[in-house]
Amino acid sequence: MYASLKSIGAYVPEKKLTNLDFEKMVDTTDAWIQQRTGIKERYIAGEDETTSDLATKAAALAIERSGLELSDIDGIICATITPDFFCMPSTACVVADKLGIKYVTAFDISAACSGFVYAMSMAKAFIESGMKKNVLIIGAEKMSSIVDYSDRATCVLFGDGAGAAVISATEDKKKAILDVKTSADGEYQDFLITAGGGSKNPCSQHVLNEKMQYLKMKGNETFKLAVNTLTKDVFEILDDNKLTSNDIDWFVPHQANYRIINAVAKKLKMDEDKVVLTVAGYGNTSAASIPMAINKWYEEGKLKDGELMLLDTFGGGLTWGSALVHFNA
Ligand code: ACO
Repeated sequence: MYASLKSIGAYVPEKKLTNLDFEKMVDTTDAWIQQRTGIKERYIAGEDETTSDLATKAAALAIERSGLELSDIDGIICATITPDFFCMPSTACVVADKLGIKYVTAFDISAACSGFVYAMSMAKAFIESGMKKNVLIIGAEKMSSIVDYSDRATCVLFGDGAGAAVISATEDKKKAILDVKTSADGEYQDFLITAGGGSKNPCSQHVLNEKMQYLKMKGNETFKLAVNTLTKDVFEILDDNKLTSNDIDWFVPHQANYRIINAVAKKLKMDEDKVVLTVAGYGNTSAASIPMAINKWYEEGKLKDGELMLLDTFGGGLTWGSALVHFNA
C-alpha cells in the first residue's frame, strides 16, 4: 500500500498588492523587487479573513476534486506559521469545524515554508502504516499578519494564500508518493524569526515597541544557505531513488525568489520548461507556496495524471525537505 496525492486545491484572496503599490509605502522600486526576487504582485487577505478561512476554501476544493465525502477524511494536518490563534485551538481544528468534519485527528505543524512537505511526510506515514485512510494536508498563511509594512527588506516578499491536498492509499507505485525527506538545523534559528509573542518574549509593551511580533529575516545569509541546501537536498532524493532530473516531469521548488529557483534548477541541469514558477504572481506564501504552485499548474492543464513532480523546499527553523510525488488525479 502506497500513499498518493489524490487531489489538489488552492485559494487566493481577492486583494492584490503590486510592486507599484509598495513604491508608495516604502523606499523601493518595481525594478529592484523584480530584479532581486522575480516578484511582480502578491495577494493579501482581508482584515476579517483568517488563515483558517483561506485554508477552508482550499481544502473544500481539494476534497471536492478527490470525489470523497467529508466523512471519509480521517486526518487533517495544517502547516502554518500564521495560525488563527497563538496557542489554541489549532487552525486544523478550526478548519475541521468550518468544513463540518467531526471526530477527526486534527493538528497544526510549524515548519515555516517547509510545512507542506513536512505535512506530506506525516500523511504518507499515516496512510502507509494503515492508521489513516484519507488525510487532508494544508499549507495556509496570512503572512500579512506578521509582516512589518514599514520594513522594505521583508514586506515586498510575502503574500497570503492557501493550498490543500488529499492524500489517500493506492496499490499502484506509478501513482504513489515515492519518497519524502525532511530535515532541520536549529543552529540558524535567527535567520528567520518572529522573536516576540512566545514564551521567550511574551506579548508585552516592550515586544510591541520593538516590533518583535513581526517576521525578521537575514535575507542574504538565508539566500546562500537556501541555494546550497535545496541543491543538496534534490540530488540526495534523486540518488536515493535511482532517478535523474530527466525522469522528472515537473520541478516544484518553494517560491521565495526566482534567483534561488534558477540557481538550483541550473545545478540540477533541469530543463527550464519543467520548472514550475509562480513567484511572480503570488510572492512567497510560505507553507502555501508549493500546493498553490501545484494547483496553478493543474488548473492551467499543464500537470497531468501520473506525472512525476520533484518538490523542494526551504524555510525558517531552518527547515528543508524534498519529495518525489506522482500526481494521481
Ligand atoms: N527595495 C530596495 N532596496 C532594498 C529592498 C527593497 N525592497 N530591500 C533591501 N534593499 C537594499 C538593502 O538595504 C541593501 O542595501 P545596501 O547595499 O545599501 O545595504 C541592498 O538592497 C541589498 O540587500 P540584500 O539583502 O543584500 O539583497 P539580496 O540581493 O540578498 O536580496 C532578498 C534580498 C530578496 C531578501 C534575498 O536575500 C532573498 O531572497 N533571500 C532568501 C529568502 C528565502 O529564501 N527565505 C526562506 C523562506 S521564507 C520562510 O521560511 C518564511
